[in-house]
Amino acid sequence: MNIALVILAAGKGTRMQSDMPKVLHQIAGAPMLAHAIRSAEVLNPSRTIVVAGHGFDDVKSSLDTFAPDAEVVLQQEQKGTAHAVDAARDALREFDGDVIVLFGDTPFVRTETLERMVAARQDNAVVVLGFEAADPGKYGRLVMQGDTLEAIVEFADASDEQRAITFCNSGVMLARSDELFSMIEAIEANNAQEEYYLTDIVAIARDRGLSVTAVACDEVETLGINSRIHLAEAEAIFQANARRELMELGVTLQQPDTVMLSHDTVIGRDTVIEPNVYFGPGVTVESGALIRAFSHLEGCHVSRGSVVGPYARLRPGAELAEDVKIGNFVEVKNATLDAGAKVNHLSYIGDAAIGAAANVGAGTITCNYDGVMKHRTTIGANAFIGSNTMLVAPVNIGNGAMTGSGSVITKDVEDDALAIARAPQVSKPGLARKMFDLLKVKKQKASRGGE
Ligand code: UD1
Ligand code: MG
Repeated sequence: MNIALVILAAGKGTRMQSDMPKVLHQIAGAPMLAHAIRSAEVLNPSRTIVVAGHGFDDVKSSLDTFAPDAEVVLQQEQKGTAHAVDAARDALREFDGDVIVLFGDTPFVRTETLERMVAARQDNAVVVLGFEAADPGKYGRLVMQGDTLEAIVEFADASDEQRAITFCNSGVMLARSDELFSMIEAIEANNAQEEYYLTDIVAIARDRGLSVTAVACDEVETLGINSRIHLAEAEAIFQANARRELMELGVTLQQPDTVMLSHDTVIGRDTVIEPNVYFGPGVTVESGALIRAFSHLEGCHVSRGSVVGPYARLRPGAELAEDVKIGNFVEVKNATLDAGAKVNHLSYIGDAAIGAAANVGAGTITCNYDGVMKHRTTIGANAFIGSNTMLVAPVNIGNGAMTGSGSVITKDVEDDALAIARAPQVSKPGLARKMFDLLKVKKQKASRGGE
């Protein structure tokens, strides 16, 4: 079936108390709008049209990143959900197929639910997604007659009898494009809110003798995000699902509810994640790795057999080959570490390439920034960097080379060479004792003076 996705996202979202359009608030590192678009990916839509209004330019540029195939149309004034869908009319003029309408602030409709709607479309001109509401509040009520949906009545316009209905409208709707737009033409704004209600097409379809039905889903799927509190609830739902999926794929999460994942986190089976680990966007971890407690990862790749943390930070561009070890209080940014390399303690590795099996000692810093520009450090295979070495980039350390602890390395070191760049040690026999004696006398004098 040829499907166009129309996502309504023009509303302001006043209750978010935000300068940013509501649909751009993020869940797991991606705007809720991107989640909504992704939820319908399974239908393989040939067109995706986002109806934007408030924060139009921001919505457009965010989509360039998160859903570059989406087209954005403007709904200048927000006159209701039917008026919003109508904004997509021109874009879909040549389109021959079905339109599914989703809300940009309702990101968790399940794949299986959308598939059931598509199946129900075979025998019905219009399919609406409903849910049994624990608290029906101000949702539109679905007036059913057997399997037939006769009408949707908005709360503001409903009689007491209709308000007692608990089967509610999620807002998701599926219909043939030409029929949908023809019915929208017939919608009027003569209701309590003086808006063009998309929900009115149900009664219009019935008047035209078309069959309309409702498919039911779980209430959590239709969670609409209207406030920061809802946003936090949505985040929790996403995280719970994502953690469960990872565990089902064979990843061990020792304390799942302390691990934060991003919308695009990929982790291979038999990897173990200790408690309190944060995965920002763009992280892939291969099978059989160990991510130890309190580590923070974003935009990085960790290969099989590597160990990260505890208390490690992998920033964008950190690429760890197999069996690499990154230990506590180590920060890695824009750097590749070849197989078996080790940076075990208290280091900053930025803009660097570290060779296979190299060992970087405690406290080593790649001094990559001169205040204006960034420079690269390369460390050869099997090199041994002594503790507390400052590698002043640009600088290259050869294969099998060594640096003395505490060195400030400003020049390249050739293969197999030892570089020491620190003040030579001087020893003065007996001088420590003399110094102590002198100091004690000084102290005595000072305390007598104070009496
Ligand atoms: C809508 C439904 C209601 C349903 C509820 C579920 C209508 C008339 N009512 O009510 O039956 O139970 O959702 O949450 O459809 N939007 C625009 N442009 C507009 C108006 C709305 O883009 O002019 C977008 C909003 O940004 C939002 C969505 O459409 O994403 C829904 O609008 P909203 O105002 O929240 O509708 P409700 O009153 O909640
Ligand atoms: Mg709403």
